[in-house]
Amino acid sequence: MKQKLKELLSDFRKNEKSIMAFNLQNSYQLEAARLVSKKLETPLIVQFSERYLRFLDEKYGMEYIVKQFSNNFTYFHLDHCIDLDYIKYCVDLGFDSVMYDGSAFNLNLNIENSKIIKDYASKKGCLVEGELGKVSGVEDGFGDEGSSYAEIAEIQKYVNETEIDLMALGIGNAHGFYSDLDGLKLDILREASLNLSNDQLFVLHGGTGLPDKVIREAIGYGVVKINVSTQLKKNTMDILNLYLSKNELYNEISFSNMMIEGLSSVFEDYLIKYTK
Ligand code: 13P
Repeated sequence: MKQKLKELLSDFRKNEKSIMAFNLQNSYQLEAARLVSKKLETPLIVQFSERYLRFLDEKYGMEYIVKQFSNNFTYFHLDHCIDLDYIKYCVDLGFDSVMYDGSAFNLNLNIENSKIIKDYASKKGCLVEGELGKVSGVEDGFGDEGSSYAEIAEIQKYVNETEIDLMALGIGNAHGFYSDLDGLKLDILREASLNLSNDQLFVLHGGTGLPDKVIREAIGYGVVKINVSTQLKKNTMDILNLYLSKNELYNEISFSNMMIEGLSSVFEDYLIKYTK
């Protein structure tokens, strides 16, 4: 039987582990995620940016994708989104969690919209992730280069009023590759975890390029979901380039095997490090 995501993440909070949430774009990545989670009997989150969800939905139909690439260890999530109707659509599809990212709005509007989604999603057993403080960088068309740090008083107000399940904080983290980590303030996460109830669940965005030491410290402050996107895009390109360098003619079977094997080992490394 599949464990409820909330229960699973609450256990992770106690045991200082984290689920990995991978932003996926194609069926090779989806298949690799499904195979690895089954092989290791370890949960992971398949998450989609709004842009890719719309793309995959149009091409194959999301109901098919969820059915085809699910097992008892895979959970489905909508990443950053501000379109309330679209978020509700994902809740109705049976997603395990959705993100309403109102971090670019003022606090009151962010709270107001988060509450609308929380109310809608909770009735259907779906978790909601919110964000305060802006993670910089553009991810599949969402966001911009601007960033801001989450403030403790605002985090407390937001969490108390929304009863959000998962809290993502802008702590100087960024989507894409980091040029340096000078702006990273893990202290915000530490303080937030000290000031909120000790079962509050946190999310770390911008997982690509964060050193192991940083990720482990963040897990110690209550991070139970780590998002990785850019690294997978890079791995996918590397496998593609390797295939091109080794073959003159395209062969879907050998290409697909190489892609799925290569990506599986990437997923496996993360799962063994932070989840298993
Ligand atoms: P990266 O692209 O830095 O891995 O970040 C992913 C992310 O946070 C998705 O929301």
